[in-house]
Amino acid sequence: MISRYLTSFDPSRIRQLKYDYVILGSGIAGLWCALEAMGHGSVAIVTKGPRDEGSTKYAQGGIAAALCPQDSPALHLQDTMDAGAGLCNREAVSVLVTEGPQRVKQLVRRGAEFDQENGQLVLAREGAHGIRRIVRAQGDQTGREVERALIAEIQKSRVDVHEKMFGVDLLTQRDECVGVLGWSVPKGEFVLFRGEVTIIASGGAGQLFDVTTNPTVVTGDGAAMAFRAGAQLQDLEFMQFHPTALASVDESSGDSVSPKFLISEAVRGEGAQLLNLHGERFMPHYHPLAELAPRDVVSKSILEEMHKTHTKHVLLDLTAHSREAIQHRFPTIFRTCEEQGIDPSAQPIPVSPAAHYTMGGVKTGLNGETNIRRLYACGEAACTGVHGANRLASNSLLEGMVFGSRAVTAARRMVDRQQPVAPDLSAIFVPTCPRGREGKPPERLRKELQTVMWRQVGLLRSDEALQDAVTRIDMIQAETARLPEGPKAWELTNMAQLARLVALSALLRTESRGAHRRSDYPEPDNRRWRKHIVLTRRLIDNLQIDAEPDILVEDVK
Ligand code: FAD
Ligand code: SIN
Repeated sequence: MISRYLTSFDPSRIRQLKYDYVILGSGIAGLWCALEAMGHGSVAIVTKGPRDEGSTKYAQGGIAAALCPQDSPALHLQDTMDAGAGLCNREAVSVLVTEGPQRVKQLVRRGAEFDQENGQLVLAREGAHGIRRIVRAQGDQTGREVERALIAEIQKSRVDVHEKMFGVDLLTQRDECVGVLGWSVPKGEFVLFRGEVTIIASGGAGQLFDVTTNPTVVTGDGAAMAFRAGAQLQDLEFMQFHPTALASVDESSGDSVSPKFLISEAVRGEGAQLLNLHGERFMPHYHPLAELAPRDVVSKSILEEMHKTHTKHVLLDLTAHSREAIQHRFPTIFRTCEEQGIDPSAQPIPVSPAAHYTMGGVKTGLNGETNIRRLYACGEAACTGVHGANRLASNSLLEGMVFGSRAVTAARRMVDRQQPVAPDLSAIFVPTCPRGREGKPPERLRKELQTVMWRQVGLLRSDEALQDAVTRIDMIQAETARLPEGPKAWELTNMAQLARLVALSALLRTESRGAHRRSDYPEPDNRRWRKHIVLTRRLIDNLQIDAEPDILVEDVK
């Protein structure tokens, strides 16, 4: 049974800050929402690390949008739908690709500088895109440039950014969201952010897995707290595994390095080839688009080659390009490889798949609305259905802006037209079971959870492995409950709760589709499974892992 709140607290004794818009997270989605909302009311960003920390900063490849005359939203829509393996929400994709170009132009007006040649934006190609349509910054530093530009705008504004403020739980009353309970890490105290509307923009959950490209703050907190508050979560079984993370090992411990450094798909877009350990190119045997096949296909093919050659990585060969060309086009990748003793112009780069992107999340409509009044979600934390079972490369930063704008437009209507919320805060006080004061160190429990998820809920799943994973996650959850109060324990509880839901969703989907692969159900089953799994707390509290899946599914729109 999942408790409604992670901690017991008495709102009447906590410092309160009142805003029109409370935004959880400061990646592209959160910053974008804040910039859209400013001028229409007071705005707070609550973010658990430094303001620029999140997946956004590490984005390399770029942002996809139909910007050149040869391209069109219709072509972008088709590529997105094809990559999504039959589960994309067509209406949402249409919104993404139609509104995308204007959001990219708006981002440029907000100060982001993308690479240009002769006064024209340079467009890159990535997997499953039929055309060059990806704008990028400083070669492979798109995310850093996006964060820089948006944070500079925020700094000029009256948006309050609360850094190192861990969002613990959403506060709800009478089926409405009335704000966020935060914990100030430097001050060691709770702060209650009361909001007329609350927007979850807290990113994905790549850190549930031992091997991931996601930074340590990306732990699925937003989805877990939304679920506790009664929000619906959708498509959790679809975790995208990027095919080419740098296969580096920590010299001192022998462990795999975490997070993994990404070798952008744009490298393959510039002609790099994948070779197995015998030096043989293999992708043409798996898909007509070879190295530029959809991401799920490339990851699956790499896994097969690794099994065949009994190795933990394959090779990405960029040696057809000169040292100067690689250094110019991919400066960060070049530098990082060199730091690892690899000269990418002279030798292929060892790569292997890593958990990268969470397609599922808080279920929203086209305007970021959730099933809870006054609660919105956008960015990687949300599930609009645009990515289906496998996201098309470089559609994520775009999604953060397109659906961030829409969420704020809808939230503004709520702020402008509705009665302000007047919660009776004393009524929120819900004592939970007191936590223990001992147990395994949280770092160890986190590693155990990540290892279970990587090994048993990772690239290749089966009924047996998933059932066992649920049991192990339950044991970790029980241990977590014994940890002393604080952000580490809360974060781990979020991770364990969400991990369990991911494993349950993967168990329910008895087919292979997109990023979800089952060794015991290797084919897609369109008759039974062109559907979404939608989870709510009410269902989960009663859900047995062998439950009849039909109670949980919704048709694809
Ligand atoms: P994030 O940028 O992850 O931000 C989440 C924010 O929420 C952070 O500020 C975090 O601190 C905060 N937060 C989380 N939990 C809490 C809490 N409990 N309390 C308070 N704050 C909290 N996509 C593309 O489109 N193009 C690319 O080229 C690309 N490259 C990528 C490369 C890498 C290495 C990675 C990891 C991802 C890449 N992606 C790319 C995916 C893309 O970067 C992300 O999907 C996107 O940036 C997510 O933005 P976001 O704002 O939703 O979340
Ligand atoms: C990459 O550069 O390969 C990442 C692109 C993405 O995740 O969209």
